[in-house]
Amino acid sequence: MDFFETIAKRTCYRSEFNDTPVSREILKKVVEAGILAPSACNQQTPSFVAVDDPEVLAKIAEVLPIPTCKTAKAAIVCVADERPVFNDISFYKEDCAAAVENMLLALTAFGYSSVWLDGVLRRDQVARRIAEILKIPTGKRVQILLPIGVPAVEAPKSGRLPFEKRASFNVWENQQ
Ligand SMILES: Cc1cc2nc3c(=O)[nH]c(=O)nc-3n(C[C@H](O)[C@H](O)[C@H](O)COP(=O)(O)O)c2cc1C
Repeated sequence: MDFFETIAKRTCYRSEFNDTPVSREILKKVVEAGILAPSACNQQTPSFVAVDDPEVLAKIAEVLPIPTCKTAKAAIVCVADERPVFNDISFYKEDCAAAVENMLLALTAFGYSSVWLDGVLRRDQVARRIAEILKIPTGKRVQILLPIGVPAVEAPKSGRLPFEKRASFNVWENQQ
């Protein structure tokens, strides 16, 4: 798939996945795409747990009983390290976001879908409960979860404002 086609095709999918499995080889390549993302001062603060054990996936689905998690064939959890990397400044959110976007694009290129689960991890202790399931050490934080599979239904594509409302050349014009 062409690079710009991949960017345009990526979308957050929130319904059920079909039965298509995800191989460990693909999961590894997708995580490698995350590892290759930029990070502040190249401190590489995000770590990843790729989940393909159905029992572990079922435990995650108990904590997050939404269609994607209940039918995911795999998942990748992006784990943040909040330590400061430039003087006293932490960049863990940006580092995780860069890694996750790379992984979402890689998944799209392989024909899989996912959804960036971040907001939903921040309530009802969801992030902490998933950290317990995955045996993530204290001091690290479950930041983003990507349930993975092939869509069982066609998903609506989210829209974007046109270029002129989002961007301009040389000086600010009338964005948003
Ligand atoms: C920082 C961040 C947090 C997000 N958290 C959630 C979430 O908790 N649950 C969810 O369904 N989608 C979440 N999303 C996905 C956005 O809702 C989605 O990217 C946006 O609606 C645009 O749709 P698209 O990704 O399909 O283009 C999050 C996205 C970002 C960048």
